[in-house]
Amino acid sequence: MGHGSNNTIKRGGFSSSFGVLAATLGSAVGLGNIWKFPYLTGANGGAGFLLVYLLATLVIGLPVMIAEITMGRRAKANPITALQKLSPKGQPWWLVGAAGMLASFLILSFYSEVVAWVFAYVVKAIGGSILSSDRQVTEAAFSKLIADPAQSLLWQWGVLMFIGGILLMGVTKGIEGLAKKLMPLLFLLLLLLCAVSLSLDKAAEGLAFLFRPDFSKITATVVLTAMGLAFFKLSLGMGTMMTYGSYFRDDQNIPMTTVRVMAADLCVSMLAGIAIFPAVFTFGFAPAAGPALVFITIPAVFSQIPMGQVLMVIFFVLAAVAATGAMLSLMEVPVVILHERLGITRRRATVLTIVSLMVLGSSCALTNSLLAGFKIFGLNMFDLFDFVSSNIIMPAGGILLAVFVGWVWGREQFTSALSNNGTLLNESTSRLVFFLLRYVSPVLILLVMLKGLNLL
Ligand code: PFF
Repeated sequence: MGHGSNNTIKRGGFSSSFGVLAATLGSAVGLGNIWKFPYLTGANGGAGFLLVYLLATLVIGLPVMIAEITMGRRAKANPITALQKLSPKGQPWWLVGAAGMLASFLILSFYSEVVAWVFAYVVKAIGGSILSSDRQVTEAAFSKLIADPAQSLLWQWGVLMFIGGILLMGVTKGIEGLAKKLMPLLFLLLLLLCAVSLSLDKAAEGLAFLFRPDFSKITATVVLTAMGLAFFKLSLGMGTMMTYGSYFRDDQNIPMTTVRVMAADLCVSMLAGIAIFPAVFTFGFAPAAGPALVFITIPAVFSQIPMGQVLMVIFFVLAAVAATGAMLSLMEVPVVILHERLGITRRRATVLTIVSLMVLGSSCALTNSLLAGFKIFGLNMFDLFDFVSSNIIMPAGGILLAVFVGWVWGREQFTSALSNNGTLLNESTSRLVFFLLRYVSPVLILLVMLKGLNLL
């Protein structure tokens, strides 16, 4: 169970090295790999974009991820308590943890609705009701689902209870146990779909869309987009990685783990692109992003491939698997905060989180039906929650955490925590990471944030 925890509440933890990797990767891999990453890569210069993304990950993604995990592991506590423990007395750094909890509620509210559509589509794919090569038919089917308040709510609540149920099994059995099974399954399903997609007529066109380098498309905006994507993709800036870090074993090599997670996550995005775009081009559809790609184009495309129904079921199961790990990590943040801060049982904390999310999330589930006209700052709740969390809280959290490590916690403490009191790692790795956190990451993330707020 706990690894040297000095908390009064007995804490769970990840039990094996593979478990750590699977759970952390499970958080990074999500819907972002399926509808965001491949499309953004294709539309913004293919291999050129990949190169920019890789650089963005190296200079801002990985350092912040390492910082968060290191802080969590050293404090062995939820993000609010962790920041309290690590900061000098009287300084309100714990507010960053509180903002992270707010972000996780906001993200869960809209993310759970999209996951609800994914789960609904697994059932619809099995039943065959979305099997049509006509995009208008698949579009009508999707519109019907999202405009139906009862269906939207029920699927969302079902998803929330499903994820909450896994969390009730605890960190080791629930999160780690499931991730160890789901991550290999994810790769297997992806490879299968890739094999089919690559065997289609116009596979080369799809691959060219995805990979052909076009450096003329790399503008400043594209660079900032890549940096923002790195942040969302790796679940950074809101305490998720800090929470998972608190379950890491002391002898786990953190930089190595983060590099592996980043590489495997990138691999999933690439494979998703290879599974999707050759098929999309073969049947003459235009590449798209977001819900339109997943829920309208994909059904129309797969309906035209032999055994298409089976492939469609596989595709939506794959999306559900990817989304489950991300949802688990998002929900674990408020669960462990409520559990440890309020001193209530983990079960109570989970139920409280689910019920709060049912209420808050319903404002997103109903944006296409009962609440269609309800807007704040010109945005419906779905878009508002997305904007506030992705464009404000996550980057601001990233900046503050980097500043905290670089300027408040200091090099000695950070190095000692990262290297497990000098038993792991060489000095130069921690020097480099510390330098990036102190001088480079905060400035670059600030640029991403200003762009996200349309101030740049
Ligand atoms: N990384 C997930 C994705 O790419 O879909 C999304 C996500 C999960 C963001 C967990 C933030 C988080 F805390």
